[in-house]
Amino acid sequence: MQFEYTPIPTKAVFAENAALKLKDEVEKLGCRRVMIACSAGMVKRIDHIIESLGPLCVALYNGAKPHCPEQVAMEALELYNKKNADCIVAIGGGSTIGIGKAIALRTDAKFIVIATTPCGSESTPIYGMLIGNQKKTGRDVRVIARTTIYDPMLTTGLNAHLTGTIGMNSLAHCVEALYAKDKNPVSDLYAIEGIVALTKGIKGSILNPNDLNARAQVLYGGMLSGYCVNLAGIAIHHKICHVLGGHHGIPHGESNSVILPYAIAYNETAAPFAMEKITTAMKTKSASGGVYDFARDINVPKSLKELGMREEHLDIAAKETVETTPFNPKPVDFQSVRALLQQAYEGIRPIPY
Ligand SMILES: [Fe+2]
Repeated sequence: MQFEYTPIPTKAVFAENAALKLKDEVEKLGCRRVMIACSAGMVKRIDHIIESLGPLCVALYNGAKPHCPEQVAMEALELYNKKNADCIVAIGGGSTIGIGKAIALRTDAKFIVIATTPCGSESTPIYGMLIGNQKKTGRDVRVIARTTIYDPMLTTGLNAHLTGTIGMNSLAHCVEALYAKDKNPVSDLYAIEGIVALTKGIKGSILNPNDLNARAQVLYGGMLSGYCVNLAGIAIHHKICHVLGGHHGIPHGESNSVILPYAIAYNETAAPFAMEKITTAMKTKSASGGVYDFARDINVPKSLKELGMREEHLDIAAKETVETTPFNPKPVDFQSVRALLQQAYEGIRPIPY
């Protein structure tokens, strides 16, 4: 056995009402002036958190927008500097966390997240910003949250569609970690545990939105999915999703929901270790078939056709996917990717390669 493993430098706090531990966590980091960032829709749900901080809270920025546009991040940074804050607390999902990362990268801010979705972004060194209509990304260990608070009480408002589609993205991160380039025995553990937690938690949360155990499982799986990306990386599934998002306007959760069963089928014979772990974790006979059935159970989008993709654009999407060949257990070529996309377009049961 030969591998390298660096633990992710972040602290996780899990509990019902954990958001009320924010003041303690801020003080443990030695901070005295907190700025909170969130979206406009989140403000009324976090009154109690702001109140619990008392005079420690010196600013609230509530302008978070999808994909973290540059103008939004710079506006938040300006407010952070103007208020002479020393701690940025992002309360929300990936877009809000993006603001926290932009500030953590450019200042000495201590960065805390209260995660309200299972996106896992809080525990990755990857940051991104929308500049014009292009998403620019980078990697820096300073953007990993020092502390993340996971409070299932804050996630009961996440509707079935978002729970399902954001959850499928997290599931994909765990699945791909089982066959990605930098995988190791520790990332395998995170991935397997993440698949179990996410599949149980997503189903339970959709069945009963107030099931706090299920909600906590989803957050836990989301956290693990972030560890997976950080440690193992991504492969063909995410490459296709980035192409579908970047050039064809398909949101990330939606593309993940549709593509994942087909990406697994693509690797079915080339990655037997991953397939065995997925089938065991999901208690299913086939990895791709199990994920395909799971996606239908939780009622996330089923085909690229349903998402408005035009069939005549499948050729260009396949071409864009193979332009910079991603690492993948099964070699990536135009014909195979085009065939994968055709299946995904139609939403048929995936055919293993
Ligand atoms: Fe993703």
